Amino acid sequence: MKIVKVKDYEEMSDKVCELFIDRLTALKNPVFGLATGSTPKGLYKRLVQRYNKGKISFDHATFFNLDEYIGLDQNHPSSYAYYMKNKLYNHINVSSEQIHIPNGKAKDLKKECDRYEQLIRDANYIDLQILGIGINGHIGFNEPGTPFDSRTDVVQLTNSTIKVNSRFFNSIEEVPNEAITMGIGTIMDSKEIVMLISGEHKSKALQQTIYGEVTENFPASILQTHENVTIIADAAAFGE
Ligand code: PGA
Repeated sequence: MKIVKVKDYEEMSDKVCELFIDRLTALKNPVFGLATGSTPKGLYKRLVQRYNKGKISFDHATFFNLDEYIGLDQNHPSSYAYYMKNKLYNHINVSSEQIHIPNGKAKDLKKECDRYEQLIRDANYIDLQILGIGINGHIGFNEPGTPFDSRTDVVQLTNSTIKVNSRFFNSIEEVPNEAITMGIGTIMDSKEIVMLISGEHKSKALQQTIYGEVTENFPASILQTHENVTIIADAAAFGE
């Protein structure tokens, strides 16, 4: 694992943005895996700013999101489809064919998971996967106890995740308790992974990810076994 320690959230976002743009320009047809939540907002903001300055183009890239809630329409303001459009896709040069997010309203959810998994395989896997981390070590919505070889599937959210994510909803009752997520095996197929960790509340998770036992009870620990992982974390996450 390559560990990059930065001062704060802004510097973390600058660093990941540099790396992202490097892969965007170096690769002929880059395939990106993207995350939602609070952590990658700074990255998306910077990508939009750079695009507006006319410095970069996304016309040759493909995007896959990690996960989506089950039961939320893509226009629901708390859906990840809405988040991605709002934060990134509506502001850059991408067409709907280039962007992929699991459909949490699919009639046949199992079929939707298989379709998503196949799309990633057809794209020859993800070149650069951006990851956040839950305080319980989840990656995507793969909660503790998920087998390391899991593929894209329907999963139950833990009470802890529902509570943490309720800040994006009007009330905790509104938070769906199921989601579709890329599996841990799917994420591990990525050729490169960058995990972003910011804030004191993530310091235990950071310690366990880097130094903890590799165990399915802490999903992010599997990253220790991937050959191309960078963790960009700020001083607060390092407990300083
Ligand atoms: P956050 O979420 O970026 O909002 O902290 C990360 C996660 O739950 O994976």
